[in-house]
Amino acid sequence: MTPQVVVDYQALSRYAADWLIGRLRQRPEALVCLATGATPQGTYSLLAEHGAAEPELVERMQVIKLDEWGGLARDDPASCEQYLRRALIEPLRLKDRYVSFDSDAADPQAECARIARWLAEHGPIDTCVLGLGVNGHLGFNEPAASLQPHAHVAQLSSASLTHAMLDCAQKRPAFGLTLGMADILQARQALLLVSGSTKREPLRRLLSGQIATDFPASLLWLHRDVSLVCDAEAA
Ligand code: GLP
Repeated sequence: MTPQVVVDYQALSRYAADWLIGRLRQRPEALVCLATGATPQGTYSLLAEHGAAEPELVERMQVIKLDEWGGLARDDPASCEQYLRRALIEPLRLKDRYVSFDSDAADPQAECARIARWLAEHGPIDTCVLGLGVNGHLGFNEPAASLQPHAHVAQLSSASLTHAMLDCAQKRPAFGLTLGMADILQARQALLLVSGSTKREPLRRLLSGQIATDFPASLLWLHRDVSLVCDAEAA
């Protein structure tokens, strides 16, 4: 996993958007899994711009949401749902080509089982876009003694509970809903985006090559096709 180091956030976003556009040219029907958070925002906005200019490129792609804050209303401005709808689902008119955890499901376990069934039937993920948590999490696969393979309800770490996405939340999430490590590792390709000085230490740990469940991103060393892009500040 040799990092591609680019000069700044803008260059990272350009690189990642071009990478995704290239993948969609190869595989227009790709099932793309999308993380949220600050890091991929620029990438998604460039992809949305590109989709408007070349709608044929995105008319067959499918999207699955990587994770969600459990217990927030679906229209909570802090939800991953609202983030992705604004960033890509609406601009690219994905409508029924988009699958996502319901943040507010009455039975969160059943909601995870629904997503797991969907993925078992329609997966594997083709392209998984990931961000690196400051504590090494991927989605809401949080550092722990053991990790889970498929969609599950996750206990949120303090790092996740203080994530900037929640600054505008109408309530505090009670748990996370997330795809699991096997879902991520079975993706044909993964794209890990790392930006900014707060990611310097986690990136250093990732690049040490030690695989440990208390740093879930390190399991990406078990994947044969991960593209890691970081900006100079993170590197
Ligand atoms: C949150 C999101 C993840 C995201 C991670 C990193 O936990 N649920 O999907 O990858 O944070 O976010 P950021 O890019 O803001 O550092």
